[in-house]
Amino acid sequence: MIQEGTPVREILRRWAEHIGRRVMINGWVRTRRDSKAGISFVEVNDGSCLKNLQVIVDHGRDRFQEILQSLTTGASVSITGVVRRSPAKGQPVEVEAESISIVGSCDPASYPLQKKRHSFEFLREIAHLRPRTNTIGAVMRVRNSVSYAVHRFFQERGFYYIHTPIITTSDCEGAGEVFRVTAQQDPEFFGRPTYLTVSGQLQAEVYALALGKVYTFGPTFRAENSQTRRHLSEFWMIEPEMAFADLENDLALAQDFLHHVVSSVMSECDEELQFFSKFFDEKLLERLQTVAERPFEVVTYTEAISLLKKSGENFTYPAEWGCDLQAEHERYLTERVFNGPVAVIHFPRDIKPFYMKVNDDGRTVAAMDVLVAGVGEIIGGSEREYRYELLLEQMKLKGMNPEAYEWYLDLRKYGSVPHAGFGLGLERLIQFLTGVPNIRETIPFPRVPGYAFA
Ligand code: 4AD
Repeated sequence: MIQEGTPVREILRRWAEHIGRRVMINGWVRTRRDSKAGISFVEVNDGSCLKNLQVIVDHGRDRFQEILQSLTTGASVSITGVVRRSPAKGQPVEVEAESISIVGSCDPASYPLQKKRHSFEFLREIAHLRPRTNTIGAVMRVRNSVSYAVHRFFQERGFYYIHTPIITTSDCEGAGEVFRVTAQQDPEFFGRPTYLTVSGQLQAEVYALALGKVYTFGPTFRAENSQTRRHLSEFWMIEPEMAFADLENDLALAQDFLHHVVSSVMSECDEELQFFSKFFDEKLLERLQTVAERPFEVVTYTEAISLLKKSGENFTYPAEWGCDLQAEHERYLTERVFNGPVAVIHFPRDIKPFYMKVNDDGRTVAAMDVLVAGVGEIIGGSEREYRYELLLEQMKLKGMNPEAYEWYLDLRKYGSVPHAGFGLGLERLIQFLTGVPNIRETIPFPRVPGYAFA
């Protein structure tokens, strides 16, 4: 069995108690600098944190002279040595190597990652190596922390985790932006048209109407031809669904949820957030603090349109009642009008999907979109139409075939209750938390029109 190393993160966090101790570290060489005095300084990163651990290699020792030529950027190593107080600035400790094993060598001439900073475009072309960079490594640790915080939040509040299907027969959002699924050898495999899911909502509703409070958290797929910095063809969505709940309950849940996740990440990923604020957005921590503490501003869609009209801004898409909110509108509302997250509620019925509850005015639905600065819409949710006749009417209005959704209509026939939920795009949330400019850097392997790697 291979011996587990001590994470560099542990050594650097609790450095005082490690002084004088013998440790083993398993990682990859970032850089090596040789001094004339017969000593090399090797920076090793093991992926547990942003910082490298400096290893001192005394050429006079053991077989170190021979090993030296293989101790190149990218090589994987297992090093045993003693932790010492470091005289160098910017690091409390270093390791004096006693034994070094080159686990996998790395040809420096062909290794694509160099010490200089690479562009994100270049790194996407080497998506198998980019996790070894500081930014992608840090983003993925944040992604891990968020995912864990999501489960903690819902589990502590009595929600059941439901695994909704990836292959479905429905198009939840009704936008026709679906990927068809067929078997290579048999196009009629399921006997009916099937798609990759665009949202687990409809199936989550089924379970909410039996278990009370549920959530689903999994990959979703959209065949949208959107080449923007906030769209992916495959993204992960967090979708809670609650029975005996209305739009107000939904808003309160979304707010508690954002508070919880943002505060968790702020306490668990301090080093990463400091790094992001240095490189991407100097106001990042301030913005996160506001979200962690402040309640959402809530405005109706009608009020939002009137604010946009009165703004005097020259929008590319002029704001008119009935239009969908564009990125420029969201930006204006989150950055100029409200200094923090804003929930826009009660959208026109015509621009929202069939499942949303029709309000008494007959023109709007009990929907909510939560917008944040820098990213725009991060959450989309609603109270669901729980009245059979009205749901049927909505389906017909949207040109759907009610027979295909008989099971969904049944929920309104057999013990229907008001219920509500929302969907939050994990990658947009990570974009918001890290300030990375493009959503493609928030997912291990991005899929967008014209591009899929590995
Ligand atoms: O507003 P959307 O389309 O809502 C739904 O899918 C509902 N069925 C959710 C529900 O009520 N259970 O998407 C919800 C969120 C958006 O606010 C956004 O964060 C994210 O999913 N999202 C995307 N993220 C990345 N790339 C895309 N193409 C996205 N489309 C939506």
